[in-house]
Amino acid sequence: MIPVAKTQNDDLLFESLPERVPRHIAIIMDGNGRWAKSRGLPRTEGHRYGTENLRRTLKSCVEFGVEILTIYAFSTENWSRPPLEVRMLMRILEMVIDRELKELHENGVQIRHIGEMEGIAPVLQKKIQYACDYTKDNTRLILNVAFNYGGRDEIVHAVRRIMQDGFAPEQVTEDLISRYLYTCGLPDPDLIIRTSGELRVSNFLIWQGAYSEYYATPAYWPDFDKEELRKALVEYGQRKRRFGKTDEQLESEDE
Ligand code: FPP
Repeated sequence: MIPVAKTQNDDLLFESLPERVPRHIAIIMDGNGRWAKSRGLPRTEGHRYGTENLRRTLKSCVEFGVEILTIYAFSTENWSRPPLEVRMLMRILEMVIDRELKELHENGVQIRHIGEMEGIAPVLQKKIQYACDYTKDNTRLILNVAFNYGGRDEIVHAVRRIMQDGFAPEQVTEDLISRYLYTCGLPDPDLIIRTSGELRVSNFLIWQGAYSEYYATPAYWPDFDKEELRKALVEYGQRKRRFGKTDEQLESEDE
C-alpha cells in the first residue's frame, strides 16, 4: 500500500513542502455523500471511493514524513444515520481489516482504535482488537482510527475512570486528563483538516485540538488527493503557532 519509489512529480512535491511538516495530522473525512450525489451515485459509492482515498492518503502521509494520522471514521452521532448506511460503515471497517491488514502491517502501519468499543458488534470488536494487537510494534506510521468516537464522550469516560481510580480533586490536572483519553501517550494533533467546506469541529478531538491548527478545504473527501494534502501542509508551514504567547516571546525563545 505504501510504495517507497518516488516519481519525478513526487520530487517536485517534496521541493515545495515547507521545512516544518506536522508530526500528527487528524482528518475529518467529510463529503462522501455529496461527492456521490454530484455524480448521480448512491451514498454508499461515496464511502467506497472515500475508503480508496484513505489508502492513497496513508501513502502520501508516509511520503511527506507525517508520523501520526488520526481519521474520523464513525462518530458517536453517526448511529443516527439510516440503518443501512450505519451497517455499510461498519462493514467498511470490517472489510478494511480483512483485506488490508496484512499489507498495512507489511508497510509498518500501527493501527490504534480511539473510541468506545461498547455498541460495536462483538465480531467487529474482536477484529479491531486483533488489528491493533497485530500491528502494535510497527513504527512507520501510527493510524488512529476514530470509530464510535465522540470528543465529549471521551472526556466523560476519562472523568469516570479518574474517579473510579480514586484520584483526589487536587490531583486532577490537564496532564492527568490527557493520560485518561484514548490518545494517551500520543502528541496532540498539530493540524486538523476538514474536507467538503464545512467549518465545524463536530465533536472531534475537542480536548486534544485545543492548540491545533485548523485547515478547511472545499474538496470532498474522495477528491482530497496528494496535491490537496500538500496544499494543507504548505499552509500549515506558514502558520505561526503561538500557544497563547506573544510574537516577542516566541522570538526570544528562538534565539
Ligand atoms: C463523511 O461523509 C464520512 C463518513 C461519515 C465516513 C467516513 C468513512 C470513510 C471515508 C471510509 C473509511 C472508513 C473506515 C471505517 C476505515 P458524509 O457521508 O457525511 O458526506 P456528506 O456530508 O456529503 O453527506
